[in-house]
Amino acid sequence: MQQFTALLTGVGKALPQKVLTNADLEKMVETSDEWITKRVGIKERRIAAEGEWASTLGLKAAKEALAMAGIPPEQLDLIVVSTTTPDTVYPSVACLIQKDLGATKAGVLDISAACTGFIYASGIAWSMIRSGLMKHVLVVSSEILSSTVNWTDRDTCVLFGDGAGAVVYSSSTEEGRGILSMTLGGDGTECDILKLPNSGCRRFPEHQGSFIQMQGNDVFKLAVRTMSECATEVLTSAGLTTEDVTLLIPHQANIRIIEAIATRLKVPAEKVFVNIEKYGNTSSATIPIALCEAFEQGRIKKGDVVVFDAFGAGLTWGAMVLKV
Ligand code: COA
Repeated sequence: MQQFTALLTGVGKALPQKVLTNADLEKMVETSDEWITKRVGIKERRIAAEGEWASTLGLKAAKEALAMAGIPPEQLDLIVVSTTTPDTVYPSVACLIQKDLGATKAGVLDISAACTGFIYASGIAWSMIRSGLMKHVLVVSSEILSSTVNWTDRDTCVLFGDGAGAVVYSSSTEEGRGILSMTLGGDGTECDILKLPNSGCRRFPEHQGSFIQMQGNDVFKLAVRTMSECATEVLTSAGLTTEDVTLLIPHQANIRIIEAIATRLKVPAEKVFVNIEKYGNTSSATIPIALCEAFEQGRIKKGDVVVFDAFGAGLTWGAMVLKV
């Protein structure tokens, strides 16, 4: 039987123009540039303007990824969007992007896996391509977290930002390239440590509005543990070691989480991609935005081994190895 692999053929990103700096936040809540820089590693984040939504940012990123892949939208078989902040529950963001791209042949769906959404969406793309069912899949991760942040809560408002990233995966019969391994996991028993109440059909009278609620310390510890385990697992199942890794692209939630994972995995700092200082935590969009910037900076070339590693609300986690 013919073996198919999912090659990465395009990447793109879109970030709002508006920059919110730590100095701006100092005027909004009792915080300081020093605290945020030291404890989290963020200097500034982007905030969507009026009329910028998950669909519009996602569309921009998708167009860039398709242009790099050289694939006309009509050839897409599937569009998977990961988002925690869809324009509306329905129509899905994937439907809106499909309409604006003119991707007439594509199936469309949104998925919800919080900050791990990009890995889960890539898993769907990989399965479809590997099974021989599809040739080209567009994955878009687009988040407007500014719409879910309580701007008077210093525990959370300094952490998040808006942005979108997109990739195209295309079918190939080339051996040893493309997505090599993946792991996906979760733990609903820990659902209370990171949540967005009043965001669905259930009402939570104890919470005013719909804002991110987080027990930061618990999230921190679990993120370090699970992300370290996930990355080790995918490298082992791909028959590789950290020595083989060109670039580790972890979810950008806190510089101290990233450094702790790199230390545990024994990956040197120069092999770890970090851009949290510019964008903060854009949930599922952090990895594809970082991937796109890694290409722009010439840090990835054909044949390189890249590891994606993520953790998020739910809880959810996942990692994958990609040979570019
Ligand atoms: N500015 C200044 N001080 C702040 C602050 C802010 N923005 N936020 C909290 N503090 C204060 C706290 O009130 C506390 O003060 P106290 O000692 O007087 O009580 C002190 O700083 C330490 O708080 P703590 O929560 O212990 O800090 P921390 O080192 O754990 O850092 C987080 C807090 C949120 C940055 C950190 O726990 C974290 O990054 N967690 C993971 C978050 C995350 O990644 N979420 C998304 C997952 S996908």
